[in-house]
Amino acid sequence: MEMQQKTLRRAHISSVGRFLPEKRLTNKELEKMIDTSDEWIVTRTGIRERRILEPGLGNSYMAVRAARDCLERAGVAPEAVDTIIVATVTPDMFFPSTACLVQRDIGAIKAWGFDLSAGCSGFVFALTTAAQFVESGRYDRVLVIGSDVMSSIIDYTDRATCVLFGDAAGAVLIEPCPENDFGIIDFVQRCDGSGEPHLHMKAGGSRKPASMETVKNREHYVYQEGAQVFKVAVTQMADVTVEILRKNNLTGSDVSFLLPHQANLRIIKACADRAGIPMEKVVVNIDRFANTTAATIPLCLYDIVVEDKRVKKGDYLVMSAFGAGYTWGSVLVRWWEDW
Ligand code: COA
Repeated sequence: MEMQQKTLRRAHISSVGRFLPEKRLTNKELEKMIDTSDEWIVTRTGIRERRILEPGLGNSYMAVRAARDCLERAGVAPEAVDTIIVATVTPDMFFPSTACLVQRDIGAIKAWGFDLSAGCSGFVFALTTAAQFVESGRYDRVLVIGSDVMSSIIDYTDRATCVLFGDAAGAVLIEPCPENDFGIIDFVQRCDGSGEPHLHMKAGGSRKPASMETVKNREHYVYQEGAQVFKVAVTQMADVTVEILRKNNLTGSDVSFLLPHQANLRIIKACADRAGIPMEKVVVNIDRFANTTAATIPLCLYDIVVEDKRVKKGDYLVMSAFGAGYTWGSVLVRWWEDW
């Protein structure tokens, strides 16, 4: 059980930005590449198309653009950013971190930063990490970016996995909340490394460095036992969604928006159902973007805050994620301002 927060000041999400690659890969196009059908993909996953970054551009290309979009919307200069956290499993390279490349390219001359690896829970973990820096009074502006170029680690001959993922970046700015009853209220976070055999990349790390053989054996791609991961994802994502509500004496009917990680529409529906949150309140983008790993939740936020301007002051937002590790968690936000 996490300790209840003793908060001097709260942190809140003061701006949102995103970057979507232009190229769309539709289910129909996948039908020409592998033995699949639009009908199978839509009914089993809810995905219709995904975005694919032009090869050779790398993660920082997207992260930088999402960061600029976020800062411009906030009217905050890059020089004013204290910290940059990039949640990703597809950095430009092992080192330096993508956060350093973003720092350089946006001109955040005073910032420090780091990458955070938590698979599809990366954004939620990074968001709560950022909130701690702001709540403690140490920093006033932390940029959190969820960015993944999944197409760079997907085997497009593996039909069970390649249909599921897409590329995108989402960014949020975390600042002190002007009113203490609003902002990032609470979180629940977990990890369980016994998930490793079911979802991982076999080679390319220190245990099994890249070699001719690892390339020949196609070991530099996402390896996922879909049905196994599906079962655990449903249970754990629903559990932390229910837990964060209970912990804060709320029910599903108090929630204005559920922003779930977008791995499979059936997982999203099961999680919403268990938490007593009707689908009208659930933000879904999996049909348009597929599973963009660390970017799914900030992209959901962008839809309701920037595109639709549906979020009002006092709205409760719950973000829930599940990913490789296994990792999972939920965050409760009480939105501070009308958009
Ligand atoms: N097109 C057509 N058929 C496919 C297919 C595709 N793209 N991918 C798999 N199939 C087939 C399988 O080969 C299998 O055929 P078989 O019964 O003849 O063996 C059949 O469809 C069912 O496969 P199964 O894996 O049991 O399907 P599923 O209902 O579990 O759906 C996933 C597969 C991957 C969509 C689903 O398991 C899933 O979403 N998993 C979780 C992903 C996730 O949450 N990741 C979280 C971390 S980000």
